[in-house]
Amino acid sequence: VFLTNKNILNMIDKAKLQIGENSYEFPLIEGTENEIAIDIKTLRGVTDGVITIDAGYKNTGACQSAITFLDGEKGILRYRGYSIEELAEKADFLEVAYLLIFGELPSKEELQKFHEDIKENSIVDDDVRKILDAFPKSAHPMGVLSSLTSALTAFNPSNDKINNIDYERTKKSLYDNIVKVLGKIPVLVSWTYRKKLGLPLEYGDNSLGYVENILKMMFKKPNEDYVPNQVIITALNKLLILHADHEQNCSTSTVRIVGSSHAGLFASISSGISALWGPLHGGANQAVLEMLEAIREDGGDTKKYMAKAKDKNDPFRLMGFGHRVYKNFDPRAKIIKVAAYEVLNDLGIDDPILEIAKSLEKEALSDAYFVDRKLYPNVDFYSGIIYRAMGIPVEMFTVMFALGRLPGWIGHWCEMRLRKEPIGRPRQIYTGETYRVFKSISQR
Ligand code: ACO
Repeated sequence: VFLTNKNILNMIDKAKLQIGENSYEFPLIEGTENEIAIDIKTLRGVTDGVITIDAGYKNTGACQSAITFLDGEKGILRYRGYSIEELAEKADFLEVAYLLIFGELPSKEELQKFHEDIKENSIVDDDVRKILDAFPKSAHPMGVLSSLTSALTAFNPSNDKINNIDYERTKKSLYDNIVKVLGKIPVLVSWTYRKKLGLPLEYGDNSLGYVENILKMMFKKPNEDYVPNQVIITALNKLLILHADHEQNCSTSTVRIVGSSHAGLFASISSGISALWGPLHGGANQAVLEMLEAIREDGGDTKKYMAKAKDKNDPFRLMGFGHRVYKNFDPRAKIIKVAAYEVLNDLGIDDPILEIAKSLEKEALSDAYFVDRKLYPNVDFYSGIIYRAMGIPVEMFTVMFALGRLPGWIGHWCEMRLRKEPIGRPRQIYTGETYRVFKSISQR
């Protein structure tokens, strides 16, 4: 008989831990989707110093959250209860941002005001340009974006002064900070991009929609009018929605833990950008494209690379495959795969790396190594192909991901502060030297 989590809770509401002769009881916590956690808050106290250890937090919940639900076994992803499939199909990115941050979909008036407030707060201080100028052109855009985001604290000091958050008392300054992040970071993203290409910097156009304005700031050519392309606007809107939140991933946990020391929103988001940069997380979209290009240049032999990915003596991994929580298809990857075909088709682009991606996917899905380990394409496997079709350079891919993830980071940061969560401070098991007597340098 298989017990569902619900059955377990109906039968028992406590977990028992036996250590030698001693037995301890801990309460269970149930989520709204019947997920169960053992609350071990009192463990160290009652056991006189015993802790749990779980490298990479594979089985450890760091918080309770009402923002995003995901079931990795079933391939379900929902923001505030709404399915990712419906949101990606029907919603506007700014609506989704509002939903993630404030908990409900906005009315027409609320959305309009939100957008107006973001536009009003999108001016970036001219001195930030000077900081941008100081970066070499070769700098990776993620490093530049993280630094500039951090620099925004200097130009928006109130951002660091949200202490003792109480929603009613601090509502206004919290809201001001949220719209500043959503207003200014797209400007930084576009500047980072234009600097890379040696183009003059652009400001936004208040008559445009949020997503369209981002594209205009990035792509407007000097001395030419910006001509919107609806295919690209729709594709970017979808990509941003798909990246908007993913519960306690590496970068979001980073934002929560940095914010738990009461660091400000810009500082916390800057650290989230750094966490996202790595190739095992958001940097995978760049790594996938580079991998697909390398396979193409090497003659397109996907079997050779499959063998490398399976060889434990070879550090090569199939980038864009595997996920910590999805042990079934990543629902975002399904949507992005279809979108990649649509965008390439609509733009009349025949990209040979799409064929390589398809053939790698096909081989992996029928290969025992990948099947046994439940390794499926993740969100990043096809997203780079769309970004490339839009004309975005490979090094900017993760920056686009960061732009999409802003609402998630903000929502989690606010939730963590409003719930007055304690400072994040894990424990450890020390494995170093025990006490030694210091010898001065002449005795060594
Ligand atoms: N290629 C080949 N083998 C893989 C891959 C891969 N992409 N991913 C996992 N494996 C293997 C591991 O070698 C391991 O095998 P073993 O059991 O024989 O030792 C097994 O599958 C489990 O992998 P772990 O690394 O233990 O899984 P973990 O949950 O720690 O890591 C991760 C998940 C980081 C996503 C991993 O699958 C990976 O490195 N994928 C490639 C990078 C990538 O695409 N990252 C983007 C993730 S989505 C996102 O963050 C936006």
